[in-house]
Amino acid sequence: MDKNTTSAASDGGKRAYVETYGCQMNIADGELMEGVLEKEGYEIVGAPEEADVVLVNTCAIRENAEERVLGRIGQLSGLRRERPWLVLGVTGCMAQRMGESLLGNVRAVDLVMGPDGYRHLGKALKEVVPRRGRPGSRRLSVLDLSLDENYRGLEQRRRSSVTAWVPVQRGCNHRCTFCIVPYVRGPEKNRAPDDVIAEIRGLADDGITEVTLLGQTVNSYRHGDWSFARLLRGVARVDGIQRVRFTSPHPIDLGEDLVEVMATEPAVCEQFHLPLQSGSNAVLKRMVRRYTREIFREKVAMLRAGVPDVALSTDVIAAFPGETDDDFEQTISFLSEIRFDEAFTYRYSERPGTPATRFPREWFVPEDVARDRLNRLIGATRFVQAEINQDEVGRVEEILVERPAKSPGMVLGRTRRNKAVVVSGTRTEIGSYLTVRLSDTTGPTFIAQRVGGEKVASPPTSPEA
Ligand code: F3S
Repeated sequence: MDKNTTSAASDGGKRAYVETYGCQMNIADGELMEGVLEKEGYEIVGAPEEADVVLVNTCAIRENAEERVLGRIGQLSGLRRERPWLVLGVTGCMAQRMGESLLGNVRAVDLVMGPDGYRHLGKALKEVVPRRGRPGSRRLSVLDLSLDENYRGLEQRRRSSVTAWVPVQRGCNHRCTFCIVPYVRGPEKNRAPDDVIAEIRGLADDGITEVTLLGQTVNSYRHGDWSFARLLRGVARVDGIQRVRFTSPHPIDLGEDLVEVMATEPAVCEQFHLPLQSGSNAVLKRMVRRYTREIFREKVAMLRAGVPDVALSTDVIAAFPGETDDDFEQTISFLSEIRFDEAFTYRYSERPGTPATRFPREWFVPEDVARDRLNRLIGATRFVQAEINQDEVGRVEEILVERPAKSPGMVLGRTRRNKAVVVSGTRTEIGSYLTVRLSDTTGPTFIAQRVGGEKVASPPTSPEA
């Protein structure tokens, strides 16, 4: 679970803090809320202790992520001892999923707001803030899901001056049986291509050179006669944009047109996240993923034929209801056949309201078996990643420097293929491109030396992961 914090300015003396958990879309939503709050005159601060309004922007994808956030909300409510006027809001997917029951069960919470409510954040806070702590004080929930809210006309308050998240689609029309997202983010809503491209021109004017287009199933994007491939080409041709990434595509919507754009537009990075979820056709069918391992294999072949150097990443779930030992072995063998550069592995987490919860109870995999399978998945995918990365030692790559690394005197950047690289450097180089030779790998991360006789990086004692 990622946690991202931030800080902005006001004239009204109101201060707000937004703490975000979950995926890139939720991070972009956190930036959107900060943009709305700034417009309302709030100063965005970097710590909850400095704020009058604290918003916890949550994720609902797994039970343990929710439990951690509930613990965090309890912790934050302790701030009221010093600041009795503090307003505590819960936003995002968990807020949408739990809804009114959050207000009922967690007394500290004043505001519950789902992902389609942020346009009205200022108004909602006006209703809650002045009454907080007084008799008859109001607690509020804003939980309507919308068929068309894509936040047209609102701006994110961007946290990075190097790289930008740009949502092009909200919601999801797929119905994978394990997934809570369609129920907490509603149906697919695609932004107008002109709005997306105008926003990215603005980012380029501000000096941003790398953008990541976001959507729950981003490559199913369609707006009038604009497909995702056409949008991607339009974005890749914006002056000043040197790198374009996108996440997360759905395998079933991957076609030749998208591969062709990736192969021909220099700004589109050689990186593709292709969520597999399982290597067993029986499990894929129960997940309603709408592809088989044979179709998935064909998609990978098409991608690798068009973009030979593409780095592939994936998501895999262990112990989905009904997964037998044999199903699981098929996943393990498929992973070693495809050889993903990176895999995000999870144990199935039952999400109330999703179709998988209605499967017969005897299909549910016992805890200890599920744990063992996840451990095996982690081991298998790390092993392949380490092998692939070891083979890449010696390559010369261009990296975009994102931030200081943990080791002093080092910075962390990413290659076009989204590999993390630690190299000697200073803060002043954040946002610049360096040419480096990969000299070693820890498994997921590379250590590199600058090419061209400049300062040579000495390997850090504990490289950044
Ligand atoms: Fe993202 Fe978690 Fe919601 S993964 S879409 S924040 S359920």
